Amino acid sequence: MKQDQWWKKSIVYQIYPKSFQDTNNDGIGNLRGIIERLPYLEKLGVTVIWLSPCYQSPMDDGGYDISDYYEIDPIFGSMADMDELIATAKKHGIKLLMDLVINHTSDEHTWFKEALADPKSKYRDYYIFREGKNGQAPNNWRSYFGGSAWEKVPNEANMYYLHAFSRRQPDLNWENAEMREAIIDMINWWLEKGLGGFRIDAILNLKKPKNLYKSYPSDGEDGLAFIGKQILNQPGILDWLHELDNRCFRKYNAFTVSEADVADDALTDYVGPNGVFRTTFDFSYTDIDLPATGEWYLSHKWSVAELKAHINHHQLKAQKIGWGVQYLENHDQPRSINKYIPEADRNDTTKKMLATLFMMLHGTPFIYQGQEIGMENIRMHDMNDYDDIATYEMYNRALLAGQSKSEAFDAMFKRSRDNSRTPMQWNDSKHAGFSTATQTWLKTNPNYKAINVSSQEDNPNSVLGFYKQLIELRKADNVYSDVTIFGQFVPVAYKQEKLIAYKRVLNDKELLILVNFSNEPLITNLDSTFKYTVLDNLSPSELEADKIALKPYQSIILANYN
Ligand code: NOJ
Repeated sequence: MKQDQWWKKSIVYQIYPKSFQDTNNDGIGNLRGIIERLPYLEKLGVTVIWLSPCYQSPMDDGGYDISDYYEIDPIFGSMADMDELIATAKKHGIKLLMDLVINHTSDEHTWFKEALADPKSKYRDYYIFREGKNGQAPNNWRSYFGGSAWEKVPNEANMYYLHAFSRRQPDLNWENAEMREAIIDMINWWLEKGLGGFRIDAILNLKKPKNLYKSYPSDGEDGLAFIGKQILNQPGILDWLHELDNRCFRKYNAFTVSEADVADDALTDYVGPNGVFRTTFDFSYTDIDLPATGEWYLSHKWSVAELKAHINHHQLKAQKIGWGVQYLENHDQPRSINKYIPEADRNDTTKKMLATLFMMLHGTPFIYQGQEIGMENIRMHDMNDYDDIATYEMYNRALLAGQSKSEAFDAMFKRSRDNSRTPMQWNDSKHAGFSTATQTWLKTNPNYKAINVSSQEDNPNSVLGFYKQLIELRKADNVYSDVTIFGQFVPVAYKQEKLIAYKRVLNDKELLILVNFSNEPLITNLDSTFKYTVLDNLSPSELEADKIALKPYQSIILANYN
């Protein structure tokens, strides 16, 4: 019997626990804070929460450096709080996805500590240790965060360990069967608690080439070569992923969404009917502003035509092969309004336009905390105000590449991961109602008096009100929900380059989504069957029998039925 693919009808909301709600006045969000805010999420229409990591961690990389998979970090509360969160969320009709970080652990994990303390310990082989070559690291890979991907082992003459991310995140050795068993046990332990599933971190990096002594031509000023090219999606990885799927996820009918930018020709293996995950994130349109090397101090100029092409390509392939997910923001991305819209045009209209464009796509929508109220990037003037490890690395590389400090700060205002990690803006009291501490772990965006939940909650014309209406269109009792959820995505080509248009089609029911992604009005022809306006970010629109005039940044959803 085909299992219920419940996630297709879900509205997912990502919580970055450090910044959602503090209840014990230490300036850091916690699990109790999330429990308190469940009614807000239910009212918004959320049915699944993805929780960024809250396991025990030294927090070198915001919790993506886990030192104990079986413990909640004390800054977030206790395992009892976690059990209460799972149970209370269930009462609100909300399932929980945990973040599964199994490419690496923290250097404070007992396995790694044992591996360092005793080279003969069995834990040595849980990680990737190699002797150096000619007094240097085994190869010239650059880690994702910058700098060599190898760290010298203290107190050993010529020994290094591999870390694809920070030096405090040693990579696990997936060739070791005993380590894999331990991970499988851990995943099932969590699933037994009643989770809805997992968001799976950095998973394509698991398989490393056999020969780790090969260096590559450098692709940067630092003489190193980007690690991603050598370790992403290597042959053999699927065996391990199938094992995880069969022995863990499928048994619990769990939803898995992998952080895996999979090439088109490999997608079937990942998200097809027999794929290893239920779905996967696409990076093409969220990373549209990045150069291919990912160095975000150098931004890449993009066009609406490019954005449209990425969206169309991703939608068509995802719906053909399996199931997609949509997102505009997450904890690694800046705020979408800053990324996609020029400064002069950043306002509620453009925020609603982005919301329409993304929420109406085919696939499960993921909303990142604060996106629903239109939170924005934060301008910092002092490096001490930043927390994110990747921001520090990128700042150093920007200076190394010859940028001035002010250029580097401009780049961080555009792209630092801290832009989306600032405290959630609940109201206009101190620290936006996030915390009553003297200082919060990361600064609150000074615009919180204008942008916050309380000021929008009861206003249907607010960004929050608009998100609620978009979510409503996916709810079971809504006349359009079968089309918004299951309707095929069909791109509609208009000659205007800055008009993004697509249909959602289910038998004879059709929705047409028109998005004027420009600050100029435009008039375009319209199929006269689209008589009904479902939602408009600028009402009323001028609808004629066979034409429509769209105002700057107007987005409208039309239907051929009601
Ligand atoms: C991807 C996560 O989203 C990011 O925040 C983290 O730094 C890396 N993986 C390493 O775990």
